Amino acid sequence: MDWKIQPAKSLKGELTVPPDKSISHRAIMFGSISNGNTRINNFLRGEDCMHTLRAFRSLGIEIEVKKDMVIVSGKGLRGLRPPEGNIYLGNSGTSMRIIPGILAGQPFNSVLTGDGSLRRRPMRRVMEPLARMGVKVEPMEGGDHAPLRIYGHKGPLSPIDYVTPVASAQIKSCVLAAGLYADGVTSLREPFLSRDHTERMLEYLSAVIKKDGLTTRITGGKYLEANDINIPGDISSAAFFIVGGLLVKDSHIILRDVGLNPTRTGVVDVLRRMGGHIKILDERETLEPVGDLEVKYSVLKGTVVTADEIPLLIDEIPVIAVAAAAADGETRIMGISELKVKETDRVKSITDNLTAIGARLREEDDTLIISGGIGRFQAHRVKSFGDHRTAMSAAIASLASDDECVIVDSGCVDTSYPGFLKDLTALVAGG
Ligand code: S3P
Repeated sequence: MDWKIQPAKSLKGELTVPPDKSISHRAIMFGSISNGNTRINNFLRGEDCMHTLRAFRSLGIEIEVKKDMVIVSGKGLRGLRPPEGNIYLGNSGTSMRIIPGILAGQPFNSVLTGDGSLRRRPMRRVMEPLARMGVKVEPMEGGDHAPLRIYGHKGPLSPIDYVTPVASAQIKSCVLAAGLYADGVTSLREPFLSRDHTERMLEYLSAVIKKDGLTTRITGGKYLEANDINIPGDISSAAFFIVGGLLVKDSHIILRDVGLNPTRTGVVDVLRRMGGHIKILDERETLEPVGDLEVKYSVLKGTVVTADEIPLLIDEIPVIAVAAAAADGETRIMGISELKVKETDRVKSITDNLTAIGARLREEDDTLIISGGIGRFQAHRVKSFGDHRTAMSAAIASLASDDECVIVDSGCVDTSYPGFLKDLTALVAGG
């Protein structure tokens, strides 16, 4: 499916963005291994999270999908059943990297696989800590790629003190999940802080988990108690409209119920630093902090994004790069190597697509340098690279372009934001 997008006069109106993808995955995963029923309000029905949901159904968990709620009948830490065949996870890296931590503690073997893009992504990063805990994970076609066969354990896993070289919430969550099955305290130290949804949720479900700076410790053997989970809007989805609102003249929008976890709000900090008008209205504290965001058209200037900020805005870099192309002066984004192993090589997709809109950019060492100052982007026909965030970033650039633009193969947005085009159209129509 290709999109044709016209330049917009302005964006106006209010929007509730879809539920958070990371938290939706975790609600199914940890709900399934809790004791009792978890009612999930506002679960994201995007492709990725539906793969996690189906995976746990295939592992014997009853999950009822109602109109406004998903109910998971948790079976406790070791209550999963052997699946009938391989478990297919589509494009979902979060499922592929976290679920092995849970399967490691089950008394049976299982195989996880996914689509072509997921089968090219590096898995050594979770295989290695799991191996240290005594878990064998076998890449069935070699390399360090899925399909992965996970050899389950009847007895407890070995606790470890793991220092991960990559700041990744997926690695952290896998190790913490496996830590639930270990005989003692497992710790993980990360080089920079990554999103902490797993820590928050496990604590909420009564796990014994402690955070101390960049180190998280979890005590194994303690069961999880089910509890209801409300999922806020996804700031990574909101980011597209935040940038759209900042770039398109006369825009004024309100984004409702956006998750504002400080380990996710790097995009707001960076865009504010660039001169963006983003105001937080009515912040509320729940399991995760939530608030409404007011965004107004702003004249932007370039900035420097440092390596320690990257995990706090890792998924927003494609759309931050679009903002940088319009901003006055240069923007430098440091520590970009992880972008190369996302749903696609995002350094390449950003470079190709920003070049197509008329921007100049280059990669130097581990830094992406974008020369800004483009008043109106060139009309463009670009590829999604099969990557939802690349497609949506290109759509936002189209709004500030000088003519109709085409985004080829945009069906991949269903991964995280099935209603994106409808929501975009509503804000454009309000303008
Ligand atoms: C996610 C963590 C991030 C992010 C991904 C979702 C998660 O990956 O890019 O979209 O839910 O834990 P890394 O932690 O590997 O950087």
